[in-house]
Amino acid sequence: MFAGRRRRWLPHAAAALAASCALAGCFGGGSDRQGRQVADSSAIREVTLDAVPGLSTATRSEQNDRRRLFTGYPKIPGAPALTEALARSENDEIEPFLADTAKAPRAPHAIPELNIQWSLAAADRDVVGVRLTTSTFMGANGGEARRTLWYDGRTGTVLSSAQLLNGTEGLRRLAELVRGRLGTQANPGQVTADPKTFSSLAFNVDGDLVAEFSDYAIAPGAAGRVATVLARGTYEGMLSDFGRRARDASLAAKPRLSLGTVPKSPASSPSAAAGAPKVDCAKAKCVALTFDDGPGPYTGRLLDLLAQRRARATFFVVGNNADAHPDLLRREVSEGHEIGNHTQDHRDLSRLPALQVNQQVQHTQEIVRTTTGRAPVLLRPPYGAANKTVAEVAKSLGLVQALWNVDTNDWRDRDSTVVAERAVSGAHPGAVILMHDIHKTTVEAVPRILDRLSAQGYTFATVSDVLAGRPVALGGRFSGR
Ligand code: NI
Repeated sequence: MFAGRRRRWLPHAAAALAASCALAGCFGGGSDRQGRQVADSSAIREVTLDAVPGLSTATRSEQNDRRRLFTGYPKIPGAPALTEALARSENDEIEPFLADTAKAPRAPHAIPELNIQWSLAAADRDVVGVRLTTSTFMGANGGEARRTLWYDGRTGTVLSSAQLLNGTEGLRRLAELVRGRLGTQANPGQVTADPKTFSSLAFNVDGDLVAEFSDYAIAPGAAGRVATVLARGTYEGMLSDFGRRARDASLAAKPRLSLGTVPKSPASSPSAAAGAPKVDCAKAKCVALTFDDGPGPYTGRLLDLLAQRRARATFFVVGNNADAHPDLLRREVSEGHEIGNHTQDHRDLSRLPALQVNQQVQHTQEIVRTTTGRAPVLLRPPYGAANKTVAEVAKSLGLVQALWNVDTNDWRDRDSTVVAERAVSGAHPGAVILMHDIHKTTVEAVPRILDRLSAQGYTFATVSDVLAGRPVALGGRFSGR
């Protein structure tokens, strides 16, 4: 669906670096943190999400003055062991982060952040590869960790990247080849035949084997992403049988996963009551319900509930979830709701360089536009964290920053009575209420919110409806009235 996923496009200055990467160890190639986009040979092939029928996503998100957390992984029908392994893998990073940030003193100007992104390195026939990128910021420093898990549908088991290789001999040979290709910024002595060294092995578009390393694993953190590329002729004899299947799956021209299950679509059927009328908030008593971080497993149910009461809402969607649920995105638009941009990866934009902020916002603009025919006009920066750069990027892309003035803290209190109470008690004409449609308890709170606010004479409007007639300059901020 998307030819140019992130890490593929190439601005000028990076070209020379990209060319040299093919020959030797590659430093900084494709580094998101540096904001450089290098179409280098160490870029791992990404498979578009429509290769997986019935794909859904699991998202976890937290925002407070102590920490910022956003993590996600794909739930692949027919591969329960993979779903469990991904959940475990993410938990192994989340738990220490929660413990560390619970102890650390509050730092309002350097709030720690944990962000885990995923992409598909392969999804064809009975082979899946899921790449996880963990970005951590602990107030003063941080880095990225990279891991690729593989799934063999023939045996129903999850394999580590090291298992793409033909046992100890394959690992030994790979370590030797990687050591010989590293430049001066890395320490070859740290590249050993230990399977843990090779946490992320996958393939580029040409079928070359890419060995990428976590920051600090074999080089100083300043080196950024270190990756080594091995041409096909070089590595062929080192692969395990599964490794060869993984490679073939990674190269499939029209990848299509087939694990013998026929999952039903996560989107429930559109309701007959779809399509609430437009509203003039200068006359009506309006309130804007907003749902962030989806779409997710409960969004279809939420749309049913909204349609039954002819209520409109605004959905601030994140890239991977939007990409995984095009049917829900289309349904949101066709039933009169508004879709806003909540960025590609849900990073704290206030800590990113302009090029990367632009990429974070633009990619989600494109997903929504290509899926629904309409690009968002509202940007909700994750955590509400913004600065001058964010304002400039928003302006350049024709967006107003849309925040909120009622926070239900629904991510923290998974109790639909509490969530409904906060939404109802915070409501006032022109209010913008923050919720998240990735939580079942939030969706369960919605009938009560709708019933009680309707009884008070409220009309459920989109954020743009509430904003109408009170223009905010492009790039400016609007938090409701
Ligand atoms: Ni969010």
